Amino acid sequence: MLLEIDNVHVSYGKIKAIKGISLKVGSGEIVTLVGANGAGKTTLLKTISGILQPASGNINYQGKPLSDIKPFERVSEGICQAPEGRGIFPGMTVLENLEMGKFSRIAAKSENEQDLNMVFDLFPRLKERISQFGGTLSGGEQQMLAIGRALMSRPRLLLLDEPSMGLAPKFIAQIFEIIQEIKKQEVTILLVEQNAAKALSIADRAYVLETGLITMEGTGKELLNDPKVRQAYLGHGA
Ligand SMILES: Nc1ncnc2c1ncn2[C@@H]1O[C@H](COP(=O)(O)OP(=O)(O)O)[C@@H](O)[C@H]1O
Ligand SMILES: [Mg+2]
Repeated sequence: MLLEIDNVHVSYGKIKAIKGISLKVGSGEIVTLVGANGAGKTTLLKTISGILQPASGNINYQGKPLSDIKPFERVSEGICQAPEGRGIFPGMTVLENLEMGKFSRIAAKSENEQDLNMVFDLFPRLKERISQFGGTLSGGEQQMLAIGRALMSRPRLLLLDEPSMGLAPKFIAQIFEIIQEIKKQEVTILLVEQNAAKALSIADRAYVLETGLITMEGTGKELLNDPKVRQAYLGHGA
């Protein structure tokens, strides 16, 4: 297992956002976490990337305690989060935004070019807009830029927080296709989504998160066909 989360609790002061979660992400998998607004999805991703500390419980990454890797070292160890709401630099160009994604400023020029080409192969639209300021991109393009920037760090574990949020249907379909392309490059993906139908359809395995607890798990297909999941997250009864 690439990532093993065991009975993790996370609080904001007195507010218990994660109340004992255990889940696993195997190398090369797409694992999806679905759940309503406020379920604790972002909190869990931030705990993995090191923005938040667990109050208790263990997380292992590549078989070792994640707590041994300092938050600022996690990107260079392959853990990279594309944050909710994109978080790109609006006053920087597309190229500058992508270059910010390299964890090492001293990466060889050839390596940098190789990574840029990989991103531009996935997102030809970004290549067309290489000199445009991030802030002037459409919502869908900003999301592409956020994912592209995360890929520049050559992640082993990519944490995607609601990549389809706020996007037009055309872009939503494209983002999910690209997530599948990224998987082919042997990047493991933990995907958080409210768009449960799309997310479950591309997931190898999935978990349902409800107010800080995991209430269901299974293959993407199992959860997609589950009456309770359909009722609660897919907007129609069984
Ligand atoms: N900075 C914060 N301070 C206090 N409570 C927070 C903070 N961030 C999130 N929460 C609370 O933690 C819970 C989980 O939030 P979050 O992880 O953002 O949910 P999700 O991403 O699933 O919508 C919610 O009840 C939310 O109000
Ligand atoms: Mg969230």
